[in-house]
Amino acid sequence: MDWGLANRLSRIIKSDGRCVMLAIDHGYFLGPLNRLEKPGETIEPLMEYADALMLTRGVLRTCVPQGADMPMVLRMSGGNSIVGEALSDEGLMTSIEDAIRVNASAITLSVYIGTKHEKQTLLNLGRLVDAGEKYGLPVLAVTAVGKELEKRDARYLKLCCRICSEIGAHFVKTYYCDDFEEVTGSCPVPIVIAGGPKLDTPQDAINMARAAIERGACGVDMGRNVWQNDDAVGMIKSIRDVVHG
Ligand code: 5RP
Repeated sequence: MDWGLANRLSRIIKSDGRCVMLAIDHGYFLGPLNRLEKPGETIEPLMEYADALMLTRGVLRTCVPQGADMPMVLRMSGGNSIVGEALSDEGLMTSIEDAIRVNASAITLSVYIGTKHEKQTLLNLGRLVDAGEKYGLPVLAVTAVGKELEKRDARYLKLCCRICSEIGAHFVKTYYCDDFEEVTGSCPVPIVIAGGPKLDTPQDAINMARAAIERGACGVDMGRNVWQNDDAVGMIKSIRDVVHG
């Protein structure tokens, strides 16, 4: 791994090998989601507890203070929406030059394996890895399931994570599932988990983070289960304790 790429990745995955990422990229296909109508106000009290933010360039430019001293993981894929025909129909919507211009520490995209757009999203990943390697930016691949939440089992997710790593992703974001150690055990790069839709209780989300760490995840990249919680600060602090504690 080149020095620049390794250095950027080390800003996100800390010296203990763990990371707490806060995902606020949802608006790129969901619009103004509940509690993310004003992203700047949502993240202001949470930023000191997160190791990195995952977001689009639009939210970065309009809602994040320019002096923010934390790594940004920039979403590069999109072109779909919740009211469009297929969530899996994504292309690359941001150039590598703009990622560098906004000082991104890593770049990210979704892949939709097992859908009719599988090939285009995997080719997107290949292109992004080529660009990331060229300029020293690590790539986070998200194994997206769109509306098909029932896909989240170990058989499917270990296939997805392994494919992402084979194409060259430097770390992977996936969902927690039963037998999660099979997913982490067959993927040679670090894995972070998404939270998914808000769970019944805050404790459920904390337990999920703990179980993921115990089964080999290097951290979390959570959104809704943090900032849709009435006590979002308490929630991210608890998650941080679980990940780094
Ligand atoms: C799913 C994404 C999301 O936009 C987001 O990052 C997920 O976070 P959470 O599920 O914890 O709200 O990347 O493809």
